[in-house]
Amino acid sequence: MRKIPHRPFLLVLSSTLFSLAIARDTLTPADPLPDGETLVSAGDKFTLGFFTPPGSTNRYVGLWYNEVSVLTVVMVLNRQNPIKSSTGVLTIASNGSLVISDDNSTVIWSTAATNLANPVAQLLETGNLVIGEAESAVNPDKAAWQSFDHPTDTLLPGMKLGWDLRTGLNRNLTAWASSSDPAPGPYTMAMDIQGDPQIFLWSGSTRTWRTGPWNGLRYSGIPEMQTYSMFTFAYVENQDEIYYSFNIGDPSIISRLIVNQTGSTQRFVWLNQTGSWNLFWFAPKDQCDSLSPCGPNGVCDPNNSPICDCLQGFVPKSPTNWALRDGTDGCVRKTELDCRNRTDGFVKVAEAKLPDTSSSIVNMTLSLDDCKAKCLSNCSCVAYASANISDGGTGCITWSTGLTDLRLYTFAGQDLFVRLAAKDLVSTSNKSHSSGAPTVVIVVTVVLGTLLLTLIGCCLWRRRRRRIRKARRESISYGGHYNIDAERSRENNVDLPLFNLETIVEATDDFSMENKLGEGGFGPVYKGQLADGKEIAVKRLAKTSVQGSDEFKNEVMLIAKLQHRNLVQLIGCCIHGEERMLVYEYMPNRSLDAFLFDKSKGALLDWQALHQIIMGIARGLLYLHQDSRFRIIHRDLKASNILLDKEMNPKISDFGMARIFGGDETEVNTRKVVGTYGYMSPEYAMDGIFSVKSDVFSFGVLVLEIISGKKNRGIYLSDPKLNLLGRAWSLWKDGTALELVNESLGFAFPMTDVLRCIKVGLLCVQERPEDRPTMSSVVLMLGSESATLPNPRQPGFVTTRVPLEMDSSSSKQDSVSINEISVTMFEGR
Ligand SMILES: *[C@@H]1O[C@H](CO)[C@@H](O)[C@H](O)[C@H]1NC(C)=O
Ligand SMILES: *[C@@H]1O[C@H](CO)[C@@H](O)[C@H](O)[C@H]1NC(C)=O
Ligand SMILES: *[C@@H]1O[C@H](CO)[C@@H](O)[C@H](O)[C@H]1NC(C)=O
Ligand SMILES: *[C@@H]1O[C@H](CO)[C@@H](O)[C@H](O)[C@H]1NC(C)=O
Ligand SMILES: *[C@@H]1O[C@H](CO)[C@@H](O)[C@H](O)[C@H]1NC(C)=O
Ligand SMILES: *[C@@H]1O[C@H](CO)[C@@H](O)[C@H](O)[C@H]1NC(C)=O
Ligand SMILES: *[C@@H]1O[C@H](CO)[C@@H](O)[C@H](O)[C@H]1NC(C)=O
Ligand SMILES: *[C@@H]1O[C@H](CO)[C@@H](O)[C@H](O)[C@H]1NC(C)=O
Ligand SMILES: *[C@@H]1O[C@H](CO)[C@@H](O)[C@H](O)[C@H]1NC(C)=O
Ligand SMILES: *[C@@H]1O[C@H](CO)[C@@H](O)[C@H](O)[C@H]1NC(C)=O
Repeated sequence: MRKIPHRPFLLVLSSTLFSLAIARDTLTPADPLPDGETLVSAGDKFTLGFFTPPGSTNRYVGLWYNEVSVLTVVMVLNRQNPIKSSTGVLTIASNGSLVISDDNSTVIWSTAATNLANPVAQLLETGNLVIGEAESAVNPDKAAWQSFDHPTDTLLPGMKLGWDLRTGLNRNLTAWASSSDPAPGPYTMAMDIQGDPQIFLWSGSTRTWRTGPWNGLRYSGIPEMQTYSMFTFAYVENQDEIYYSFNIGDPSIISRLIVNQTGSTQRFVWLNQTGSWNLFWFAPKDQCDSLSPCGPNGVCDPNNSPICDCLQGFVPKSPTNWALRDGTDGCVRKTELDCRNRTDGFVKVAEAKLPDTSSSIVNMTLSLDDCKAKCLSNCSCVAYASANISDGGTGCITWSTGLTDLRLYTFAGQDLFVRLAAKDLVSTSNKSHSSGAPTVVIVVTVVLGTLLLTLIGCCLWRRRRRRIRKARRESISYGGHYNIDAERSRENNVDLPLFNLETIVEATDDFSMENKLGEGGFGPVYKGQLADGKEIAVKRLAKTSVQGSDEFKNEVMLIAKLQHRNLVQLIGCCIHGEERMLVYEYMPNRSLDAFLFDKSKGALLDWQALHQIIMGIARGLLYLHQDSRFRIIHRDLKASNILLDKEMNPKISDFGMARIFGGDETEVNTRKVVGTYGYMSPEYAMDGIFSVKSDVFSFGVLVLEIISGKKNRGIYLSDPKLNLLGRAWSLWKDGTALELVNESLGFAFPMTDVLRCIKVGLLCVQERPEDRPTMSSVVLMLGSESATLPNPRQPGFVTTRVPLEMDSSSSKQDSVSINEISVTMFEGR
């Protein structure tokens, strides 16, 4: 998490001397406010008074948070007219003018006079200082003057950034010149109402960043807004006003938007627990945020190298500069438009930040189809897009000049349709878009091809499986103790301790109930203590489905060789008659589910701990899938199989159990033993097909459970049919994915990290196994801030339907194929 301390002001003022004075929120002509006294809003939220910025001796009248322990000034009245001594007075004159004067009654700063009979100035709980008629409370809508109309560098909830068209008032934010001088600096954030209105950051007279137009839900250039569920954003555009503002649903949350002294805009949220401002969002963020780095008709993609590319159908205007990574000249058409003959078409640019709309034309009543027709019929139109994406896309923006400052996002961008000559429509993608017939041919070919490949694959698998089985039988009868084959035994010949039954009985106090840690799918687990004091966990395997003792030992040997910091270490086994036991290191913090699904314990895990757990599981699973010498598919990954050590490092347990239990089970056993409803991928639950991608699915469920603190089977009130996956998916689609996050995290977490994890989780639970990433990509995606993530498709099982044949043993025919496939995949490397 990133914490930027606010300008560390120290109030050099004598207010403490006066702190016993009764707090008031109103200034009357008879009762001025001398330096040292303060006005406090009715609910104690804001304080108005005299202050001195650090490194300065000047006095200013400003407004700061009363409840925030770090002095944070949000408004300065006389930012350009400091008082040189601490003898200033703030008065409301009888002519209704607010006046700051010094001891010689020299007016330092004042507002215009107002026609009020009994003028008062009142500090409202919103942080608005208003001048009005002395009645009960001043209504800001009828105020003669209000500080919200004259922002300093901070936008508070309810403040408007934008224009009052009736009066020509342009409310904008201007940064302080320096941390010791509140005078206006060079950086401003202001709304430009030409074309489709946008907010720009300015450095002097140069524009440095733009929000893009409002698209009905958020600013086109601030995709993150889609995830900020605790804020409500308002964009109002009518003949009287055009402005942007925000509000916060929960009144205890304190948040502000500022323009800082180095020309960035930042949003902070106050964290009461840590007593600091948390940097929630800022812009500009990356190279593509600077204004039009790729020039007209260029596309900026921060995840590409170089970041600039030309739109389809365009080539660099100055190839030399372009090659030198200077894209500012932009791109020109390969083929001129052919408007008269009406042969032009449009290419879609997805996930885009709309190009500069300063000279665009907007019509909110047109549909997207009408918009296309309108654009086609006007020869100067070069692109169009929806003006309001909130309801599937309505309204129409058209561009008639070059498309500047166009960039791409990984999520929450929108579609832009760029006009191209017919010739260029197909050229780059080189795909047939034209008639239906070729598409059919392609589809048929692909389907046939896939079928053929599958058939061949199946045959090969069967043959391979037969060979492997044969080899395995041979190697076992050949007789090595724990050598599956010669190669493996040569590599590592560690002896696995064989415990005798007495030792275990003693350690676990004869498997006493007090020592029972839990009951897993494979049998009960007991805590034990060896004679030397070492703590162990003993898994007593269910007797029914165990292999012969040699085969068992072989498998256990194999599994004992798997060593990774995110796997529970197997330290031995015990075989006695029918009885088979596995001895593991003991994990004092038990399993993850106890923490996740328990409110009181869950609060112990902050985001950093959760993230460490997610990463650890991913690494452990990657090792099982890929890096260990034997590809192990876990088949029963779930929260109760993730154990936590003293430092809360996650350790996967029960891996290789499928191996120990052998593949030759009947369907019932296999199904009962392997897989837990809620974590099983659709293809496994429905068809019994499993692969590394079924583990990836379970991992995805686990990630979403870790983030939400909810079990996948939980019922949600808004739509009981939706399970956790369904809920995560619908929130994601609505752009409110952060609502998924466990409330016990508050909002003390880095939004982008959490969103990345949610997205990875959703990618892992996609319906089709081939869409899911491998664990190696998962580890990459989780670990790198710059990795691009594809957009997830609908997850499997978004409703809690019961998988076919879940608890039935009737379908013998199926079981054969199920086991064949599973065993084959399992043995494959
Ligand atoms: C106030 O006036 C006196 C006399 O005119 C002058 O000496 C003093 O510097 C003034 N003080 C301020 C703060 O301007
Ligand atoms: C309003 O009254 C104040 C104090 O009496 C005076 O300084 C100011 O000039 C007056 N403003 C106008 C516009 O008359
Ligand atoms: C900001 O507002 C002030 C006052 O309305 C105006 O003079 C200035 O031009 C504005 N700046 C920009 C960049 O719009
Ligand atoms: C966008 O569309 C939605 C739904 O049709 C509507 O409620 C909203 O007012 C529209 N927003 C704008 C800015 O037109
Ligand atoms: C302004 O904001 C940017 C982005 O958050 C930050 O990197 C920079 O340090 C800030 N400048 C100041 C003076 O706080
Ligand atoms: C913030 O914490 C302080 C003490 O640390 C407490 O007095 C205050 O009520 C808290 N405020 C909120 C809004 O929780
Ligand atoms: C468009 O029409 C003009 C004449 O009107 C013709 O010369 C030209 O070849 C046509 N272009 C295409 C692409 O059909
Ligand atoms: C929007 O388009 C409709 C249909 O073409 C037209 O009637 C209307 O006048 C247009 N509105 C504006 C503001 O241009
Ligand atoms: C075509 O578009 C241009 C620029 O957008 C506009 O000025 C012109 O009025 C439009 N022509 C027609 C016929 O709508
Ligand atoms: C399109 O594909 C054809 C055949 O593969 C190739 O000859 C042609 O050069 C391609 N066109 C472009 C623009 O890549």
